[in-house]
Amino acid sequence: MKQKPFNANIDSQAALSTARLTHRKILIRLFLGWLFLCIVIGGAILWSEVHRFQRLAHQLALHESAILSDELNYDLAHLDTTAQQHLTNLAQQLVKQNFLVVELYDLDQQLKVEAIRPGEEATESWIGRHRHQFPQRGEFTHEFHFNGGKLFIVVLVPIKGSGTMPTGTIGYFEGIYLVDEKNLDTIKSDLIRTLLFISISITFTTLLMYPLIMTLNRGLIRLSNDLLMGNLELMNVLGCAIAERDSDTNTHNYRVTYYALRLGEAISLPRHEIRNLIMGAFLHDVGKIGIRDPILLKPGKLTPREFEIMKTHVPLGVDILEQSSWISGAREVVEFHHEKYDGSGYPKGLAGDAIPLSARIFAIVDVFDALTSERPYKTAWPIEEAINHIVQNSNQHFDPQLANVFITIVPALFHELHSMEESQMVNMIQHCIARHFLTTMVDHPAPKRAVRL
Ligand SMILES: [Fe+2]
Ligand SMILES: [Fe+2]
Repeated sequence: MKQKPFNANIDSQAALSTARLTHRKILIRLFLGWLFLCIVIGGAILWSEVHRFQRLAHQLALHESAILSDELNYDLAHLDTTAQQHLTNLAQQLVKQNFLVVELYDLDQQLKVEAIRPGEEATESWIGRHRHQFPQRGEFTHEFHFNGGKLFIVVLVPIKGSGTMPTGTIGYFEGIYLVDEKNLDTIKSDLIRTLLFISISITFTTLLMYPLIMTLNRGLIRLSNDLLMGNLELMNVLGCAIAERDSDTNTHNYRVTYYALRLGEAISLPRHEIRNLIMGAFLHDVGKIGIRDPILLKPGKLTPREFEIMKTHVPLGVDILEQSSWISGAREVVEFHHEKYDGSGYPKGLAGDAIPLSARIFAIVDVFDALTSERPYKTAWPIEEAINHIVQNSNQHFDPQLANVFITIVPALFHELHSMEESQMVNMIQHCIARHFLTTMVDHPAPKRAVRL
């Protein structure tokens, strides 16, 4: 049969599903980016606005408390009745405005004057006595408390001596300041407006970026597809090259690739290992390009010396794979497909699980297809005999657990492949191969048709 080029149209359906998955992934990432920016920028603005508001409230509280502290030219430790009355009157004036509680302390932190707005005793007790943490060096301190939608600022202001009083701190003014509701509402609405503006700006920016990213992504997918098709064609060309020399068609490569990938799927082999298995199956005997015709094409049994030469197709194949990073994934199959489970194979005589899994899978499918195919020196075996051969050689040639899985799935696969024209079969397998490689571009879950080993 004339060798078919790798069909460039086979990827249309798989590429479409890849594009859809990529599209969804971009949408999810854009949404996450939008959410992240809203949280980070919104949070920063919220923090800065709250900080600005705190400074504003601080200035307001200081301004009002100055009315009392400016007139304080008494010795707080020894207040007479007149002074006590005067200061209490001043404190009473303050609690009629924005202060709920006003207190004066001497340097020994003894309460000397106190005024509480009528009805606000509960607020005073709710805020608690922690405002009595007097500053160490006479600095101003303040605390913020939210309760019932109202904002309270507890200020503790060191009082400096004035008039005849000595300079330096002579006592402390302490007050619970209720932030004016109108001011609070203005600040709140300003904050909400700013946050809304930022969210809308981020949303618009994200929406503008979306078509740009999609256009770039479409171009990238197109280029990736072209590159992928080029690589698959390279794989096909190499497979054909050895098939032509071997006077065979490339259909053996296609069939073993199909059996191998189905067996890989049946044991839930990870997707990247299935791709390596596909490449390995397709190129398993690529090293035979370097074997001379008298040995490669010899119809009879090879002499021991000729067989030794034939064995070199394994290192020759490895050498060829090293010329391309893309097909280097095929190495395990190419290097170890003649190893046997009992250690009697070549080139290294590895046994059991020391043989890479992909090579153990491939050894089964390669022998099965060779037995069930017609060759110039033999007829095709019936499927039952080929299955018997696999069973009988489990433990010696083949991994028994893999062989068990294979014999359960192979009858259906065999009939599927042999019920088609060769061209149909090649088309179908090319579709399968391309689908496995196209899904490398997105994290697409492997089909869950696991058969336990
Ligand atoms: Fe081989
Ligand atoms: Fe083969």
